[in-house]
Amino acid sequence: MLDQANVPATAVVGLQWGDEGKGKLVDCLAGAHDAVVRYNGGANAGHSVVVGETRYALHLVPSGILHPGVRAVIGNGVVVDPGRLGEELDGLIERGVDVSGLALSSRAHVVMPYHKAEDELREALLTRRVGGDASGARAVVGSIGTTKRGIGPAYAEKVTRSSAVRVGDLLRPELLREKVELACAVKNAFFTALGVEGFEPFDAGAIAEEAAAHGERLRHTVTDTTELLLDLLDDGRRVLFEGANATMLDVDHGTFPFVTSSNASALGIGPGTGVPPQRVTRIIGVVKAYSTRVGGGPMPTELDDAVAEGIRERGREFGTTTGRPRRVGWLDLVAVRYAARVCGATELNLTLLDVLSGVETLRLCTGYRVEGAVSGRFVPDAFDLDRVEPVLEDLSGFGEDISGCRAWGELPAAARAYVERVEAYVGVPVASIGVGPDRSQIIERGR
Ligand code: GDP
Ligand code: IMO
Ligand code: MG
Repeated sequence: MLDQANVPATAVVGLQWGDEGKGKLVDCLAGAHDAVVRYNGGANAGHSVVVGETRYALHLVPSGILHPGVRAVIGNGVVVDPGRLGEELDGLIERGVDVSGLALSSRAHVVMPYHKAEDELREALLTRRVGGDASGARAVVGSIGTTKRGIGPAYAEKVTRSSAVRVGDLLRPELLREKVELACAVKNAFFTALGVEGFEPFDAGAIAEEAAAHGERLRHTVTDTTELLLDLLDDGRRVLFEGANATMLDVDHGTFPFVTSSNASALGIGPGTGVPPQRVTRIIGVVKAYSTRVGGGPMPTELDDAVAEGIRERGREFGTTTGRPRRVGWLDLVAVRYAARVCGATELNLTLLDVLSGVETLRLCTGYRVEGAVSGRFVPDAFDLDRVEPVLEDLSGFGEDISGCRAWGELPAAARAYVERVEAYVGVPVASIGVGPDRSQIIERGR
């Protein structure tokens, strides 16, 4: 069943390259929980929730916000752009959403203006530097195609430590000023040394002042979210963890270096919230019925034909955050099985199955051919993954529009066979199936 009332802590996590439909599932489950928690990433995420005629695009605010009374928690593992968070809250308030349930970790790190400038600069330099390299090196050292939200530089500042600003520091003006001055001294030297054209040195005083103003606005939401979550769980309350980005983009377990800068698999929950992993017993791996990827990096099953074009149009495969067209390919079961194992997925939510309607032959990647030998083992490294060839298995497609189906038995036999092949290969049951973007368009297996 979609909700399992006896499970205190559940996680929703993407098993591909993002945009699997995590926001929709979180929204479907949130009403039965006391808190929804983001544990990683930042405004690079774009989670869509569709309620009737209204489409919400959430970037930093947890998708549980649409349910009054549910705490929407931004954990310590998130990197927060406080200006963007303020704008997102304003947008929600304008649409009549009650945002009083927001709780922001005092230990979350802050994305500062110089982080966004650094993100832009690095991407520009890498693009220029690598260009068209015939040696094959391009696949691993080119620009990453980031969202330019300052995510990588903010996480880098965090592990560099002294000059990093945390949300709690926004409320301590003197300390904030000292940290920003230190950071600006380093950034100004770096940008100057690179001879960046038109570079205006960062003004520490102005940056610190603006950051402090954002802090004042958010002051009432700032708290120790680890304490909050552990107290909720100890009181028998229910907590839902909302993954951002996805397992293939996990900095340690994804297709490095074409990844984001956080542990975007379920493994990030512990460090990103302070809740020990054994407390999270239900892990729902969200899997899109085909593959998409935004930005650079290898994608073994990528298509560049009319089938991909049709899927992109029907699935509205354009980035929620950047508007970029998403790359499209067949479902890569080798990657999904690996991701499900890394996350410890206990069930799968197969999404956007409706989009495959009308594709005559559906293909599934069930192995990688590497130097002539076929293997079912995933390769979590961009250089090696770029060299595999997908082994594809054909299944019959289905022509029916399935967006009105609400029960397993209503799906055409070919659609059911596709779902059954996925779960047999991955070794994890498909417990729910998405057949459209609206909250109501979900099939609970077993119904
Ligand atoms: P997220 O980042 O994982 O939350 O996913 P996004 O919201 O970025 O992208 C998923 C897109 O698919 C959004 O436009 C959703 O509204 C939409 N969506 C989610 N589930 C379904 C589904 O089952 N069918 C269809 N057609 N669209 C869906
Ligand atoms: P949601 O939560 C899809 C990708 C970017 C880029 C790489 C690194 O909506 O599923 P970054 O800005 O994080 O340094 O970019 O990761 N990326 C995503 N792709 N969905 C996301 O989030 C993503 N978050 C990051 O496109 O290739
Ligand atoms: Mg998204």
